[in-house]
Amino acid sequence: MPRRDKGGHDKGDKGAWATTLIITMSKPEQIDLDKLEQELLAAIEAAADLRALEQIRVGAVGKKGRISGLMKGLGALPPEQRKTYGQAVNALKAKVMEALEARKEALAQAELDARLAAENADISLPVRPAPLLEGRLHPISQVMDELTEIFADLGFSIAEGPDIEDDFHNFTALNIPPEHPARQEHDTFYFNERQDGSRLVLRTHTSPVQIRTMMSTKPPIRIIAPGRVYRCDSDQTHTPMFHQVEGLVIDQETHLGHLKWVLQEFCKAFFEVDSVKMRFRASHFPFTEPSLEVDIGYAKQGNEIRIGEGDQWLEILGCGMVHPNVLKNVGLDPAQYQGFAFGVGIDRLAMLKYGMPDLRAFFAADLRWLKHYGFSMLDVPTLSGGVGA
Ligand code: PHE
Repeated sequence: MPRRDKGGHDKGDKGAWATTLIITMSKPEQIDLDKLEQELLAAIEAAADLRALEQIRVGAVGKKGRISGLMKGLGALPPEQRKTYGQAVNALKAKVMEALEARKEALAQAELDARLAAENADISLPVRPAPLLEGRLHPISQVMDELTEIFADLGFSIAEGPDIEDDFHNFTALNIPPEHPARQEHDTFYFNERQDGSRLVLRTHTSPVQIRTMMSTKPPIRIIAPGRVYRCDSDQTHTPMFHQVEGLVIDQETHLGHLKWVLQEFCKAFFEVDSVKMRFRASHFPFTEPSLEVDIGYAKQGNEIRIGEGDQWLEILGCGMVHPNVLKNVGLDPAQYQGFAFGVGIDRLAMLKYGMPDLRAFFAADLRWLKHYGFSMLDVPTLSGGVGA
């Protein structure tokens, strides 16, 4: 729009400014209202967006707009013209306002349509499950919770020891002196020699927790100690890191019958069956006398494992009466106290109970395996609700 149409601010062109004044102020009737109407309506129709339309509105009916200018000029007209001309200007204003409103609505609608199309959300997408439902507990964690629940019910409390042990707790105090062949059998991971020549080890079993507990607690003792253990060994049923739960009972009167009963009760509760096929075999551990190993009977059908039937056996634990030398090593009098101990392979229990055929998959960190065999956070094992979740 040329500047002079806006009311003559173009001071550098006095002639043009004067002309505008004449047209709008002195002789409003000379303006061709029809032409102005056509011009404005065409501009309104052509406005591409709300901002362009607003500019047209200000230019027409704003304070300094062209129609407002005509209205202001009315007072200068002789009264007989003022009425008809005033009506015509008013009619023009009404028409333009109406056109502005209509165009505004159309543009607003078009803008909304465009936004709706652009912001279109595909509500058919599946909702992402909440982390609590998505996350899984590793079967080992689940089985540890189950064990804890069962033994807590039998009156055992939980004890712990470090994964990095010294020779005394892992071997010597357990009646495995230096040069004892059992040290070789354990495939121990040793740390580098310290200045005094001794070497720390990754504990090869949870039995050192027996020693720590007996040295720090007065009998009667009834504890379990679940945790990680390490041996340099790997095949379908062995991994270099695996899990055990140690059990220890020390009292003035304990015997093998107590041990057998505890293990049977544990297995029934754990496998959730009325009777479990268990086989007690004579064995040897330096820290127990007599010593036994226990196998669980199972049947394998395809990839499924059934407990309590079949004629296959899996060794799940070692146990026995605590050796008098061990009691002496921790300062207990073997004439006054006896006890029993057991060490259960947690990973093997999990394999049997949940039918997972290869132990190595437990620690491969394969998300698909975890999704398949893992447990929901909310499957908290309870004796009343079923420890198997
Ligand atoms: N510590 C033995 C092992 O790791 C198991 C065991 C524990 C045996 C307690 C007897 C008593 O093989």
